[in-house]
Amino acid sequence: MNNNVKLNIENKAYELPLIEGTEGEKAIDISQLRTKTGYITSDTGYKSTGSTQSAITFLDGENGILRYRGYPIEQLAENSTFLEVAYLLIYGDLPNKEQLETFTSGITRHTLIHEDMKKFYEGYPSKAHPMGVLASMISAMSTFYPEAQKSQLNPEEVDVTIRRLIAKSATIAAWSYKKSQGLPIIYPQNRLGYCANFLHMMFALPTEEYEVNPTVVKALDVLLILHADHEQNCSASTVRMAGSSHASLYAAISAGVCALWGPLHGGANQQVIEMLEQIRNEGSDIQKMVAKAKDKNSDFRLMGFGHRVYKNFDPRAKIIKKACDDVLEELGTRDPLLDIAKELEEVALSDSYFVDRKLYPNVDFYSGILYRAIGLPTEMFTVMFSLGRLPGWIAQWKEMRDNNEPISRPRQIYVGRKERDYEPLEKRN
Ligand code: SDX
Repeated sequence: MNNNVKLNIENKAYELPLIEGTEGEKAIDISQLRTKTGYITSDTGYKSTGSTQSAITFLDGENGILRYRGYPIEQLAENSTFLEVAYLLIYGDLPNKEQLETFTSGITRHTLIHEDMKKFYEGYPSKAHPMGVLASMISAMSTFYPEAQKSQLNPEEVDVTIRRLIAKSATIAAWSYKKSQGLPIIYPQNRLGYCANFLHMMFALPTEEYEVNPTVVKALDVLLILHADHEQNCSASTVRMAGSSHASLYAAISAGVCALWGPLHGGANQQVIEMLEQIRNEGSDIQKMVAKAKDKNSDFRLMGFGHRVYKNFDPRAKIIKKACDDVLEELGTRDPLLDIAKELEEVALSDSYFVDRKLYPNVDFYSGILYRAIGLPTEMFTVMFSLGRLPGWIAQWKEMRDNNEPISRPRQIYVGRKERDYEPLEKRN
């Protein structure tokens, strides 16, 4: 490929280098554009702008392809475990037996949070949204481990911070649920694996034995794998942006949790269930809901539909949709919301509004049905997305720091007032 592109500005010719990725994606390197031409580019929402070159996750939106470090998501969901995928994303390759044991035991040993952090829960309102608790508790972890603030990274300290984050975030999440229910917190059990331990902390009671259902453990493992990374999405870009100032990994991850919380991003999974419940409670008028989503005068959107990258189908949605059928059948339960979701998908995908705009179910459309099947409350859905996405955020932060990327500081085009003089108060009308 010719490694340059020609640009003609005000009758002056410039050459800019071209970049080609492993899968043939092409980009114009504009890093020297302003220096060479005095011009910058403008791309609100970064719809055509690449922020970095990354080796972590590959998406092909036209063909519904998602690979973590080259491995297809379908194979990882079928054969791997969440902690194995976390290692893959963060360290670049699938771990061997010894590496997986070290990584897993390192996480198991860090599941307790400092007893002083328990007191924070006394301060939150009883109905505090668990995403607000998670973001603030992760940020607070930086005060208990100040060594992570150092700008110069020490690999051993980074590794222990990574294990602390993955281990303690699950405990923080489960305890925020227990507190919201007015129930006693349940301490982690080192004899249990990551998913079983989380379910035990969520649903066990001091008054009775709690047996973890292997079907539920597997379903949770698959959900966490499917959410583990998604290249430069809004929250991952937030983690990179915050981390690029050399703020600690705790601070960067806390920023990522906040970005994910938005209803256009990870918050959509909670909104999907609330939308499906609204359809059910209002007599299942799906056509009315679809018409509202198409109505430009309404700010209502069909939550769980559409994606900035996937313009065909979201491979994760396909896997989760099938898992919903399998898990509900294995558990011997039914969920009327799943029937409504399937009918809504069918109606929408036969409507030119959605087909013309290439709006298909995304990862959030069916995930809430599966979380419900597991017994998780709606308010915890975006927290589950955060626990799943945590290894991806960490991997993105680590790649950015390992590559010594500069602090992120975008330019802008100023469209405000021209220079004017200060008017004393008495002269202002
Ligand atoms: C996630 O980036 C990632 O990778 C994210 C994620 C990850 O793993 O990190 O995949 C997770 O965030 C999934 C998305 C979850 N959000 C939702 O389900 C919320 C509903 N979806 C939309 O808000 C929207 O589709 C986005 C935010 C997902 C994508 O928005 P874009 O790419 O900016 O597209 P757009 O808003 O410019 O929409 C293009 C057109 C518009 O109509 P026109 O102006 O062309 O007439 O499609 C319409 C939009 O109004 N549209 C929708 C719609 N989504 C887009 N109309 C109705 N319902 C919708 N859901």
